[in-house]
Amino acid sequence: METNQKNQTINSIYGDYQKHLCEILETLTNRLSKANETFRLKNGEALYEHINGRIKSEQSMRDKCRRRGLPCTPYSALHELTDAIGLRIVTTFREDINQVIETIEHFEDCRIIEKKDYIHNVKPNGYRSYHLILDYETPFEDVCGHTPGHYFVEIQLRTIAMDTWASLEHQVSYKKNIDPKREKLIRQELKRCADELASCDISMQTIRNLIREDHAHENTAR
Ligand code: GTP
Ligand code: MG
Repeated sequence: METNQKNQTINSIYGDYQKHLCEILETLTNRLSKANETFRLKNGEALYEHINGRIKSEQSMRDKCRRRGLPCTPYSALHELTDAIGLRIVTTFREDINQVIETIEHFEDCRIIEKKDYIHNVKPNGYRSYHLILDYETPFEDVCGHTPGHYFVEIQLRTIAMDTWASLEHQVSYKKNIDPKREKLIRQELKRCADELASCDISMQTIRNLIREDHAHENTAR
């Protein structure tokens, strides 16, 4: 439940399913944290650097439904749209992203139904990330009345460098009243920065591979 500007009570756009969303987010976050720990114990390095999760706010979900011409109902929020539950996994190195995807592919109750590779297909503004949409099977009922229920989860995978850039770009995009001349310059500079960071990500990956090869060589020479 929420209150509007006139302090009237309005029903959640997620209806009775809201409690399940929080539970799904917590379960998936815990499972990924456990996978990270297991990976670290086995390989001496973490699978990812950190993870964040959120349930899309009431207001953002209502705004998105309106933008898409959908009624503000639980069905639109949970069945027509796929990002009510969102996770962002941030890795240190580029190749770790593939490793995380492989880990998720092994979760027996998760099916990856969409992949968007904005790392190889960079957005014109310089945005890089790998997006997944999961179909997650749960013991709860879903908005279509099915039990076990199916819920969508959006996962964004990026390196620390990609994440830093996306945060800054997000700030610029939401700033109102920027002088159009200055905005053009800011966008050009942001794009240049995105490309420089991408080049650093590749160099960092190369350095890590060299260190690993050196360790492997040292171990066989012993
Ligand atoms: P949405 O209406 O945003 O869901 O668009 P979409 O369905 O085409 O999804 P897409 O996979 O392109 O983007 C989904 C999410 O990725 C956004 O809500 C952002 O969190 C992030 N994202 C996508 N493009 C950009 C971008 O150019 N800059 C930043 N900072 N984030 C982006
Ligand atoms: Mg989306």
